[in-house]
Amino acid sequence: MKADVEHVIESLLSKGVVVRKDRDLDYMLEVISYNKPLYQLEEVWKGYIILQDKASAMVVEALEPSEHDTILDMAAAPGVKDTLIMQLTNNSARIIAVDVSLERLKRAKKVMRMYGIDLSKIELVNMDSTRLQLSRAVDKVLIDAPCSSSGAIGKDPAIKIHLKDESWVGRFLSLQEAMIRRALYLGNKPYIVYAVCSILPFEGEEQISKLSSTVEVLKPRIPGSPGYSSYGPLARKFKRFYPHIHFTQGFFISKFRRV
Ligand SMILES: C[S@@+](CC[C@H](N)C(=O)[O-])C[C@H]1O[C@@H](n2cnc3c(N)ncnc32)[C@H](O)[C@@H]1O
Repeated sequence: MKADVEHVIESLLSKGVVVRKDRDLDYMLEVISYNKPLYQLEEVWKGYIILQDKASAMVVEALEPSEHDTILDMAAAPGVKDTLIMQLTNNSARIIAVDVSLERLKRAKKVMRMYGIDLSKIELVNMDSTRLQLSRAVDKVLIDAPCSSSGAIGKDPAIKIHLKDESWVGRFLSLQEAMIRRALYLGNKPYIVYAVCSILPFEGEEQISKLSSTVEVLKPRIPGSPGYSSYGPLARKFKRFYPHIHFTQGFFISKFRRV
């Protein structure tokens, strides 16, 4: 919202940050080399650039936000994806941003302000979104669900320790299912994008394929690989991103609506 891509490239290069334009997303730059922590860059704290994984941006692309949309985000903090939604819609979309963590929501508000987001268009709601009831219709729903983060092991290898604990992973499965079910029962059958930063099929393909006849699954119009082939023809309607293929975090992305 605050800066022009070409100017940012110039100013980063002048500081020794080697970047190149992403081939799919014209607003995204890939950092090729830099020997200091990126978050210390002036461009970050001035709100000119945001550090985001490409697969995470693809979740927003799958939602195809448009200027007149009202979007419900059921797991919104710290607001990185909502910031991108507002960027892509020229600060015009409306977002109901729900998160159970007040601390993280406060951070989301700070993040959005820092990046020049029109906060009058955002309703920040601190609650458990599995209990959410809405009195008005929304056009689209984003569920960037809490998950095992097994797709982010490259960034944080300590995640492997948690993955050995089945009950820890299991907690996320029921929460993800409850969020999906709540979104499905919203009145006007909005499009839902459900995504997890996970390589585990239980948190991805499994969560959607078990909804079978109650949903129409749509193939997101984004690059990426299909879902795991053991889920049959449905797998081709899912998207997966992998560190070793796409140089992103591991992500599962799906799009569907109630029939
Ligand atoms: C993967 S993070 C979301 C990241 C966010 N979409 C972004 O791009 O910045 C998952 C979020 O879900 C929230 N969360 C966990 N359980 C929740 C619940 N029952 N209701 C609402 N939010 C929940 C967590 O507090 C966390 O902020």
